[in-house]
Amino acid sequence: MAQERDSISLLHLSDTQFGRNHRFGNLGATAEDGQFDTLIARLKIDLDLLRKDHGVAPDALVVTGDLAEWGRKSEFDDVYELLDRLSKHLNIPRAHVAIVPGNHDINRATCEGYFATCKGDEVEPVPPYWPKWKHYSKMFDDFYKDESGIAFKENQSWTLWEMPELRMVVAGLNSTMVESHSDGTHYGEVGENQLRWFKSKLESYSRDDWFALGLVHHNAVRGAKDDDENLRDANDLRQILGGSLDLLLHGHTHDGKSARLGLLPVLSTGSAALKPDQRPAEIPNQYQCVRVSANGIDRWTRRYDPGDKRWIGETRCSPNGDKWIINEPANFAAFRKTATVREPLKPTADPARYVEKLLGEVSKIYPQGLKTGENKVIELSIEEYYIPLATPSRSMDGKPGERASVPLREAIAASRKLLIVGDPGAGKSTFLLSPA
Ligand SMILES: [Fe+2]
Repeated sequence: MAQERDSISLLHLSDTQFGRNHRFGNLGATAEDGQFDTLIARLKIDLDLLRKDHGVAPDALVVTGDLAEWGRKSEFDDVYELLDRLSKHLNIPRAHVAIVPGNHDINRATCEGYFATCKGDEVEPVPPYWPKWKHYSKMFDDFYKDESGIAFKENQSWTLWEMPELRMVVAGLNSTMVESHSDGTHYGEVGENQLRWFKSKLESYSRDDWFALGLVHHNAVRGAKDDDENLRDANDLRQILGGSLDLLLHGHTHDGKSARLGLLPVLSTGSAALKPDQRPAEIPNQYQCVRVSANGIDRWTRRYDPGDKRWIGETRCSPNGDKWIINEPANFAAFRKTATVREPLKPTADPARYVEKLLGEVSKIYPQGLKTGENKVIELSIEEYYIPLATPSRSMDGKPGERASVPLREAIAASRKLLIVGDPGAGKSTFLLSPA
């Protein structure tokens, strides 16, 4: 059985849109120069930096759609290369790479061709028009050819990833079920059949307290602006599947946000590689790393700085626009056990080792709510920062009627039994640790 984990880290990319609107690969004067200006090359440098300076090491790579521009074979060749090289660089097995299609991943030409064939054969086209995913599904099959149970197929064009090493299950929702070459179909919809399929599949993982991650391309929470392309059946998603998921990630809006769908935390990231004229002018290219644990959700949000040709911290995703390392509270069943179970300290045959371990446990305090700029909990040495407490007491030399301020440590030494009473925050717990 897979072991309990105390956290899971994700690399979340979206809207890479390989094709004519992909920003990378156009700068080099020569082929030798151009090799440095690829999404893979720029990401590798940044991810190495995040690992070295912040300990961010993704366990899984997830991409929330619009991997290609027009769903063409040549574009998916580039997608394959990205997934292959990036997962290898990060030591992420292919079984821990999860992708979902976006509206740009369907091929309108093959869809129109299918409609024309149906017309010639005097039959009605059958939704969701499988030929539209011709090149997406071919790339999918090639990438996962050695992985059993990971499928995207004609009668079931969505995917469930079971990742036992991470105790995580990923619901890869396909929100392009309605999309076709025709006007009036360009919006997101998952469909009740798919939602109910995932709900029934997720039940057994929920019983075992696996972390349940949902991926979808279209935004389930409507934006403030005109947003006709959003997920039309977001209400069904909330009602049918919302209680079965721990976290939902999406793309499509080209904007890194945090929201809630009912009680379900929903995070998005912007386009990792779209040219400036194809996305909101005020929002740069983005990606994020997400860590889920008993500590809630930690995000490292990044933006691309074209002037310096490198990824840097993106502060616009934080509530006040001032942080690129963001913590949000969340209570995940998957990490409750690892959060509360602490191995009890037992005396060992060697008393010196026992005392050394005991001192390690009681010699530090961790002030609640105080963290460093890198989001690490602050640790203070009691010896260094403890201010000795005193208590009013009868004079220790026993003169009747006299009262004096006596250091608590002396009071302990002088008393066989002692009752310590104090207001909340007075320092009772820290005091009890200090003489230990
Ligand atoms: Fe999209």
